[in-house]
Amino acid sequence: MKILNNVVKGFLCFAVVLFVLSFKSKKIEISSSSIKNDPIDRKVDSVLALMHLNEKIGQLVQYAGKWNATGPSSSDRDQYKLDKLKKGEVGSMLNITSVKSIRETQRIVMEHSRIKIPLIFAYDVIHGYKTIFPIPLGETASWDLEAIKLSSSIAAKESAASGLNWTFAPMIDVSRDARWGRIMEGAGEDPYLNSVVGVARIQGLQGDNLSNVLTIAACAKHLAGYGFGEAGRDYNTVNIGENELHNTILPPFKAAAQAGVATFMNSFNDIDGIPATGHKVLQRDILKGQWGWNGFVVSDWGSIGEMVTHGYAEDTKHAAQIALNAGSDMDMESYAYQSHLEALLSENKVSIGQINDAVKRVLKLKFQLGLFDDPYKYCNEQREKDEIYTKENLEIARDVAKKSIVLLKNKDKVLPLSKNVKSIAVIGPLANDKDTPLGNWRAKATYNSAVSLLEGIKSAVGKKTIVKYEKGVDLTVPNIPEGSNQFSFPLEFNTIDSSGMANAVELAKNSDVVVLAIGENAYQSGEGRSQTNIGFFGLQNQLLEAVYKVNKNIVVVLMNGRPMELQRLSEITPAILECWHLGSQAGYAIADVLFGDYNPSGKLPVSFPYHVGQEPLYYNQKNTGRPSNAKHVTFSAYRDSPKTALYPFGFGLSYTQFSYTDLKLSQDEMDADGEIKASIKITNTGERMGEEVVQLYIRDVTGSLIRPIKELKGFDKIMLKAGETKTVTFNINAEMLQFYTANKIWEVEPGKFNVWIGGNSITTLKETFVVK
Ligand code: NOJ
Repeated sequence: MKILNNVVKGFLCFAVVLFVLSFKSKKIEISSSSIKNDPIDRKVDSVLALMHLNEKIGQLVQYAGKWNATGPSSSDRDQYKLDKLKKGEVGSMLNITSVKSIRETQRIVMEHSRIKIPLIFAYDVIHGYKTIFPIPLGETASWDLEAIKLSSSIAAKESAASGLNWTFAPMIDVSRDARWGRIMEGAGEDPYLNSVVGVARIQGLQGDNLSNVLTIAACAKHLAGYGFGEAGRDYNTVNIGENELHNTILPPFKAAAQAGVATFMNSFNDIDGIPATGHKVLQRDILKGQWGWNGFVVSDWGSIGEMVTHGYAEDTKHAAQIALNAGSDMDMESYAYQSHLEALLSENKVSIGQINDAVKRVLKLKFQLGLFDDPYKYCNEQREKDEIYTKENLEIARDVAKKSIVLLKNKDKVLPLSKNVKSIAVIGPLANDKDTPLGNWRAKATYNSAVSLLEGIKSAVGKKTIVKYEKGVDLTVPNIPEGSNQFSFPLEFNTIDSSGMANAVELAKNSDVVVLAIGENAYQSGEGRSQTNIGFFGLQNQLLEAVYKVNKNIVVVLMNGRPMELQRLSEITPAILECWHLGSQAGYAIADVLFGDYNPSGKLPVSFPYHVGQEPLYYNQKNTGRPSNAKHVTFSAYRDSPKTALYPFGFGLSYTQFSYTDLKLSQDEMDADGEIKASIKITNTGERMGEEVVQLYIRDVTGSLIRPIKELKGFDKIMLKAGETKTVTFNINAEMLQFYTANKIWEVEPGKFNVWIGGNSITTLKETFVVK
């Protein structure tokens, strides 16, 4: 502690001098710009002044706890890591969880190192820590920013109570390819939705003040383009131009920077030949330069070293040089900075200014988190016991889960089911699965801890209702072993065992209604889980057909992490509920919707195709020169499939109906820096109360760069009583109309704009105005 005490004393003297100077400044008029006004910056400078080069480089290094690698690693490095911790040559650890382990690891640094700079502890808390919320894609379907913020705040509270102070979330990669397994981890295909949902998640995680012990630092990832890997293959090359980069991919990152996200993570992919990790334009010029963001950038796992494999760096040393020059501040598990920065500095290949800048960014967050005041601030065993997986947190998880469900089809009002229906057959490989609803990236969830659909249904129905269950077929073999994570085993799908089919069919035959739970296993989506087939694996299709033969009254409950091919399903089954992987309380939340205790209000954050061959499929595409639907062959279309979505972006039904009328603009002309209002009347024409997500779409009809045929620019989730009408008004301003133009700046181009308001992205109610 001696050195830190000196730091504090030094800081106090410095502060006194500054105070005196600032007091006198009115008279002697010294330039205030030469004085750092942020007390944290001053503290950071004082610490930096005491650091040796090896300690500075150490702050730029992050290692994983050996017991929980989330990428390639080798165990002979354990001793090496321990030595480095003792020397104060590590800035952060990831994948160490629990107060006990975190306290022990922190103590190694605090007791052995010369300078005693506390570690920050990071973990992938993606949709809850132990109380698990819907996967991020599913939660986005709620279009409920307050609910999303709340779920992130619970995730933060539970993480912080177990000693953590940093998570690698939210993922704000615009994701348009259902083949990409990580589509489950973001907010879907739209830049605006990714921006507002990303900001809500950041606010939930970080709160107003990072030093609050109920919050943790967030990390916006992956800068950039990771969702655009060719052919939906994870880690694959991204071939996009400047238009796509600036107008589609970067807006959520800019929003995150403006919202004060503490950190960014760069990404594995290359963009047009430059690995994102070594991308100077992205990290130094845009993020830290143009956007003036002052947090730090962490690499992705081993992504600095992988620049060698990409064919961009000659060796790890060269990779370290490229990464630091490009503005990548912290090296996660590449060992590149630790091994090579000192030599690179002496060879003038990196500068001390760059190293100092990166170190200051890291130290700043440690001060903001309050770790310099108390390195064990987040290590509180009592909180760990009391605040994790509480009844209140589970109730919130249920609430968010029910809001995330999307009603895709409801022919003849099959839903909601009566609680007094005589008999329900609950069938399918996911019907009594207590693990799949936890989804991938489930942090510290307990294996098999979710409420299954069967449990949910049983808890909801009246005493006289007979509920029986048959699995029918298995989805995976073997069942996921306890203690697995998404990296620890390959998935095998059962295509052989059909022995349960007959029982399932028999049960269906003798029941009033079938609730059929099919879809994807928890680990079918997520990192490294790209697929060329987005249909139902195993014998699920056969199960559907066999059940359908004997009972047409089928309600399908889908559990999945990506858009799936649902064409056949939607032809034959009267009701479909998209239930994603909904988390700890999945079964209760689904039952809330099945039996009408909650009227579904979710809307799709991604387009669902007819066929995987349409991927990437997204509503905000460009028009092409030949968009017609005419039956002539020379138009942009498929010969064997529609080109539109089966279920479009923004789509979702309710148990009531809404009508949209009287779309009006306040003016039909607008100044480029002006504002106009677009309003619409929405009426609940059905018989029960319900929520509707009212969506505003705009098209800039002609541009110096072609603009998408429609872009989401705003939405409002409103509640309407049966028969009630409300008017919703959106202000349309320059910020909504501008884009990164051919002039390579963000500006509004004069000309014609179309405006649509409706309940999904294929709404046709349209008005037009002109920007002068
Ligand atoms: C690799 C993933 O791409 C990233 O999102 C994650 O945060 C890190 N591994 C750490 O687990």
